[in-house]
Amino acid sequence: MTANPPASPPPPAATPAVAGLFAAASAARGQAHAPYSRFLVGAAIRTPDGGIFAGANVENAAYPQGQCAEASAIGAMVAGGGKRIAEIVIIGAPADPAADASGLCTPCGGCRQRLREFATPGTPIHVAGPEGVRATFTMDQLLPFSFGPDNLSF
Ligand code: THU
Repeated sequence: MTANPPASPPPPAATPAVAGLFAAASAARGQAHAPYSRFLVGAAIRTPDGGIFAGANVENAAYPQGQCAEASAIGAMVAGGGKRIAEIVIIGAPADPAADASGLCTPCGGCRQRLREFATPGTPIHVAGPEGVRATFTMDQLLPFSFGPDNLSF
């Protein structure tokens, strides 16, 4: 009798590059402006040349105007001259340490499309909690059959 397989893949081994991204995402998460959801998110992108660009979620009293951490990180990357995402770490969890923080903070649908603009199908997307990376997906796993710049011949 064999044991049941685990419900989700084990966390990937942390590489130095991922550890650096995790630290940058964690610092950005500490600056999140999320007084309405009290759900703090930080994201950090590594570009192929080794640049690191981080962002946090930025909520607004007019709720729909809030911005996800991934969008903030992409804005920082573009402002810094970056055009490609080599990998990204996203850390999301409630601000309240007593709250259930076990959920995976996978990017929302809109952010999957935002990431797709600068990613390849194999780009790793590391989803983390405050303690570390919990799961890694590829861009294509999160947004299969996607529409991107190549559809417009760019
Ligand atoms: N949020 C992100 O910043 N990234 C995600 O991947 C999921 C959700 C933010 C949006 C909002 O400020 C808060 O988390 C709760 O949805």
